[in-house]
Amino acid sequence: MKKYLLLAMLPGIFLAQAQVHADENQRHVAESKVVVKEFMGKLKIELQTAVKAGGPLKAIEVCSKVAPDIAKAQSMQHGMKVARTSLKLRNQANAPDAWETRVLQSFEERKQKGEDVKKMAYFEVVKADGKQTFRFMKAIPTGKVCLSCHGEKIEPAVKAKLDKIYPDDKAIGFKLGDVRGAFTIQKSM
Ligand code: HEC
Repeated sequence: MKKYLLLAMLPGIFLAQAQVHADENQRHVAESKVVVKEFMGKLKIELQTAVKAGGPLKAIEVCSKVAPDIAKAQSMQHGMKVARTSLKLRNQANAPDAWETRVLQSFEERKQKGEDVKKMAYFEVVKADGKQTFRFMKAIPTGKVCLSCHGEKIEPAVKAKLDKIYPDDKAIGFKLGDVRGAFTIQKSM
């Protein structure tokens, strides 16, 4: 009799367990979205201020120094690994891993199908080094302020400086609204 009772309860237990995981994932997604918004907000302000003050030539440092600093501070603050990546890289240090490459490719496909890049995101819980890891990515659209360093027409002086620092620069030729790359977040569970 007891056995049947237990059997009858099993689906309920599984469902409750699944619900706990779903709730936890949604909490991580919500936290990730806050982190990304903060990152983008800070970076955009720094970029706009620097471009206004000294032109794109002076602002190159913002993308190369300020962005990793923001990523580092946020990683510590939220106990997550926060970074930026792209299929067309300027700095190889930002290279995507296999999972990130797949997600970036899926973002390109979703854009082709007409989805709004601004709202594009994806999460998954994966096993990494034997540990359950929450992973989240949010597409970064190419805005107007980005074009002076990632667009089709880049000022010669800016291009020269970029080429000097990044001889293998692939992050050019973007158009307004393109997927420039993505924020990527990892959290061990
Ligand atoms: C003043 C020049 C400049 C502007 C403007 C600029 N970037 Fe960058 N961007 C860079 C540089 C330099 C790097 C390389 C950073 C590094 O060394 O990590 C970079 C790297 C990146 C990366 C990391 C992936 C990679 O290619 O290495 C992303 C994503 C990115 N930029 C997005 C943007 C977006 C989105 C905007 C507009 C909101 C923007 N950038 C505006 C210069 C710029």
